[in-house]
Amino acid sequence: MKVLYVASEAVPFIKTGGLADVAFSLPKELRKTGVDIRVVIPKYSAIAEEFKKEMVLLKSIEVPVGWREQYCGIEYMEYEGVPYYFIDNEYYFKRDSGYGVYGYYDEAERFSFFNKSVLEMIKHIDFKPDIIHCNDWHTGMISPLLKAQYSEDKDYKNIKTIFTIHNLKYQGIFSSEILGDLLNLGSEYNHIEKLEFNGGVSFMKGGINYSDIVTTVSKSYAEEIQCEYYGEKLDGLLRKRGKDLFGIVNGIDYDIYNPEKDSFIYENYNIDSFDKKIKNKLKLQEAMNLPQREDVPLIGIVSRLDSMKGLDLVVHILDELLAKDVQMVVLGTGDQYFESIFRNFASRYPHKLSSNILFNTSLAHKIYASCDMFLMPSRFEPCGLSQLIALRYGTLPIVRETGGLNDTVKSFNEFTMEGNGFSFKNYNAHDMLFTINRALEYYKDRTVWYEIVKNAMNGDYSWKVSAQTYEELYLKLI
Ligand code: GLC
Repeated sequence: MKVLYVASEAVPFIKTGGLADVAFSLPKELRKTGVDIRVVIPKYSAIAEEFKKEMVLLKSIEVPVGWREQYCGIEYMEYEGVPYYFIDNEYYFKRDSGYGVYGYYDEAERFSFFNKSVLEMIKHIDFKPDIIHCNDWHTGMISPLLKAQYSEDKDYKNIKTIFTIHNLKYQGIFSSEILGDLLNLGSEYNHIEKLEFNGGVSFMKGGINYSDIVTTVSKSYAEEIQCEYYGEKLDGLLRKRGKDLFGIVNGIDYDIYNPEKDSFIYENYNIDSFDKKIKNKLKLQEAMNLPQREDVPLIGIVSRLDSMKGLDLVVHILDELLAKDVQMVVLGTGDQYFESIFRNFASRYPHKLSSNILFNTSLAHKIYASCDMFLMPSRFEPCGLSQLIALRYGTLPIVRETGGLNDTVKSFNEFTMEGNGFSFKNYNAHDMLFTINRALEYYKDRTVWYEIVKNAMNGDYSWKVSAQTYEELYLKLI
């Protein structure tokens, strides 16, 4: 079985969020089961030189983008046994203005080119996929274009498509002029049953409407997005596609996130040598200029500082929380509002809160390993990877019951002694504070705490089961 996995980012080449982790670790796991899956992403200028040097140019072709004929280089390399194709065009992907990968004025054109190039590429390489697996809006026009422009071609006519939603909020909505101007599609596509969305056209809608199967990254999120509150105005379409919509929870890469082997952390440990985790805490406290104390509960946040992550709840109760005997470490970048508010709180509570407004992989690993608790009160969360990492490192998550958080964190039940963390339901700051207090109470009882930690560290958060589920879906299609 041959699968072409299309994404706008993939670790280790380029990453802005969890999609990049999935685009690396899921294909890697699927290859172990014998699926010939290959990944294709744009060749951004921000990809490190060491990788660019390894890429081989397979072919140069011309790709139509409306009335334009654009150069497209198809480059190739293998990484950890996974074949990667890179779509090269410096006009679209060499952007050094500091904005990073996304957010340019010509986003519609850049990703129309990418979608069209992925389809054109298939004619020119010796890999004819049975399935194209697309991810998020940046790949949303592949399925509609495949049906509209390639269905007569023998290389394409049997190709099936899967579209995975990692975050429904970002949809790629543009003026309907792009239909003719960029996609070579007729104005009949400007229709509510096709690509039309609120007076424009939507890449996300294209992916959902025209793919054979739609998946998202947890069972709860698959249900939530069929309701108005989480549906981002696509809940009607998602309900319509309900029987082809599947929720498959993400895993984490067990080679990268392993407290026994992780070279970023101060001291390696596992469930049997859990005592050693405390050394991480003391070293992190020292590095963050917090008082070095074993007994004080240390709460971590590693997050994009984005309103979807529920940080307004944290800000709302931060004075109350920091009045207690606790310490906190925050790591992340994002909205300026949250960046400055966390800096401000850190200057007011220098012995209790350390705010690190930056992106740093090594520090992130250290926080997962060193903290006692991990706070993630998201407003919505398609899957969430951080809580899975925290669980594997025995750092108990405190989460809101939404999306993937709901599916992976089970609140501790003192009667059955089941549960691997703490959770609350309503999007309410004091419900969250109540739950944090609950965790702080159990933290005082070392025996109970260790039981919850065991539940956390003994769980399976790997890709094993989910990769099998994807494989079963693939098999269903071909
Ligand atoms: C997006 C979602 C996140 C998910 C990730 C990978 O970043 O917001 O919840 O874990 O994609 O699927």
